[in-house]
Amino acid sequence: MKIKDLSQKINALKKKRNAIILAHNYQLPEVQEVADFRGDSLELSRLAAKTKADVIVFCGVHFMAETASILCPDKIVIMPEINATCPMANMLTAIELKRLKTEYPKAVVVGYVNTSAEVKAQLDICCTSTNAVNVIKALKAKEIIFVPDKYLADYVSKQTKRKIIIWNGFCPTHIKILPEDIKREKKFHPFAKVMVHPECLPEVVALADYVCSTSQMCKIAKESKEREFIVGTEVGIIYRLKEDNPQKEFYPASERAVCPNMKRITQEKILWALEELKEEVRVPEEIRKLAKKAIERMLQII
Ligand code: 13P
Ligand code: SF4
Repeated sequence: MKIKDLSQKINALKKKRNAIILAHNYQLPEVQEVADFRGDSLELSRLAAKTKADVIVFCGVHFMAETASILCPDKIVIMPEINATCPMANMLTAIELKRLKTEYPKAVVVGYVNTSAEVKAQLDICCTSTNAVNVIKALKAKEIIFVPDKYLADYVSKQTKRKIIIWNGFCPTHIKILPEDIKREKKFHPFAKVMVHPECLPEVVALADYVCSTSQMCKIAKESKEREFIVGTEVGIIYRLKEDNPQKEFYPASERAVCPNMKRITQEKILWALEELKEEVRVPEEIRKLAKKAIERMLQII
């Protein structure tokens, strides 16, 4: 089916179902085109909680749809591709976290939003790439466990000068951006500012002008007077950056930085998801309540 016919069908069905489509900033252009909102991981879940729609079509990876369902259990949250998961979130199970907690019984446990609902249920507090530094600053505890991203933990530890007990997780997409990629792009574009995601390697973070979440990147690109940016994150964001700022230039730090899971959703799959109202993402109530507490504690800080 042609993309134009598909998007017309999606729009008609969206109205019939009283649905909205949320898309993460890394989604394919064809998905971003039919989305009602684009945003970062937490931003989308908060939008889901606010909307009057009955059905949320979540175009992102599994932990993001789960977070939406944790915040709005009265709504139907569906994913067009249920197998789109985040490898970093999959690097830590609830059992592994339980074991780590027994090794450091006095530690406060901070978890990145890139975690499963079962892991979130065991956290003291959640954080995102936007607020991780502020969350750690707000904690008085001497011992802090930070899971699962060792590179975000390293960045936060340097920013706050706090010692952090880390988990050996990482994003397989962001580690593909190398310091030499940034140096090469800087040579080609000497006036460009460098924005990178804190999931990048510390050597890459050290070369950046801005270290920030995907939505902060979109905000900086819009509000800054600078006209050129080297972008150190998943390449899908370039589409949105260019669309929002047609007069500015955006150069991906590395074309290798592609998250295959984010690319599994297509317009066809969105249409099928709306037709069948599948696959639904729902979190068991006991886990949901505990996970929600960790998210709410974070929301009180930011
Ligand atoms: P953001 O919350 O910054 O969008 O990041 C999510 C993510 O998965 C980055 O790889
Ligand atoms: Fe997970 Fe990395 Fe993909 Fe983000 S880019 S969803 S952290 S694998």
